[in-house]
Amino acid sequence: RQPWLGLIEEYREYLPVSEKTPVVTLLEGNTPLIPVPALAERIGRQVRVFVKYDGLNPTGSFKDRGMTMAISKAKEAGAKAVICASTGNTSAAAAAYARRGGMSAFVLIPDGYVALGKLAQALLYGAEVLAIKGNFDQALEIVREMAISYPVTLVNSVNPYRLEGQKTGAFEIVDVLGDAPDWLCIPVGNAGNITAYWMGFCQYHQARKCDRLPRMMGFQAAGAAPLITGHPIAHPETLATAIRIGNPASWEKAIAVKSASMGNFHAVTDEEILDAYRLLASEEGIFCEPASAASVAGMLQVKDQIPTGATVVCVLTGNGLKDPDTAIKHNKSKFQVGIAPELKAVAEAMGF
Ligand code: F0G
Repeated sequence: RQPWLGLIEEYREYLPVSEKTPVVTLLEGNTPLIPVPALAERIGRQVRVFVKYDGLNPTGSFKDRGMTMAISKAKEAGAKAVICASTGNTSAAAAAYARRGGMSAFVLIPDGYVALGKLAQALLYGAEVLAIKGNFDQALEIVREMAISYPVTLVNSVNPYRLEGQKTGAFEIVDVLGDAPDWLCIPVGNAGNITAYWMGFCQYHQARKCDRLPRMMGFQAAGAAPLITGHPIAHPETLATAIRIGNPASWEKAIAVKSASMGNFHAVTDEEILDAYRLLASEEGIFCEPASAASVAGMLQVKDQIPTGATVVCVLTGNGLKDPDTAIKHNKSKFQVGIAPELKAVAEAMGF
């Protein structure tokens, strides 16, 4: 078997790179497509359900797929610095890839609304972190203007190379299943990833790598669901801070994906997100971050619409370790503290 070379080398023929592009890679991609039988059982009919566990990328989220492309192309163009707004994961990926490519990274984050692991990553990778007293939408507006007026390259998903890299998630799913799934369930924040996945499925379809195209099922947190309410949300709120976004940059693209794929968008409550988050961990052994669990929460919400015999893939966009606070606060496990360091005391605490 050949070793995995990172997604640019693996999918070079489908990506806008040339021999001149300096490939900045951490060997991202090739993440597992894991069967989740306990979830399939909850649907109650003959269905196959998988999760695409993109939390196993080098910085722990799907952003690495977009960032290997965006940073390689920025380096090719001679950029010295990159900038992004982020709810956390983009900042971690931008920092890691920029530093590996010898560039500096500036990241704007909403003060107080970035999960601990993500902040730790951005700081340790060596980004300059600027926390603003505002939300992601405001941060994105600022960095878009910064990139016009200052010598910094924007690496948010409005940078088209980001979507080019992220579409490889769809390629990998088809490469494993032998065809596209019937349904693709995915969390939606700024709406870049749903757009990228659809690009990937369409491109593979054109290349005759798959016969079908999936219905694209996008799920937003109920307190941050502009694509479902139909208007921007000035003050988005959800415990899934990764998707705490009120005015998605790829709004029109996402709506186009919904209609072209005959898909649908729905809102999931924080309670539904937490239920799916705990279910994935405690019944399947898969730890994702809350925003990622929105894909599974959504699938369960509309499970009666899944046709018998269907294959469903839920994208788990980020690793659970990104957000230890939520895991510690919202689990239902028994956690006993202050036990005497003696066999008898331990056995007693165990209920023997
Ligand atoms: N899941 C996770 C874990 C995310 O971090 C994000 C977005 C999404 C889903 C939604 O993807 O924006 O393409 O619709 N995170 C961005 C960030 C906003 O800054 O890390 P999307």
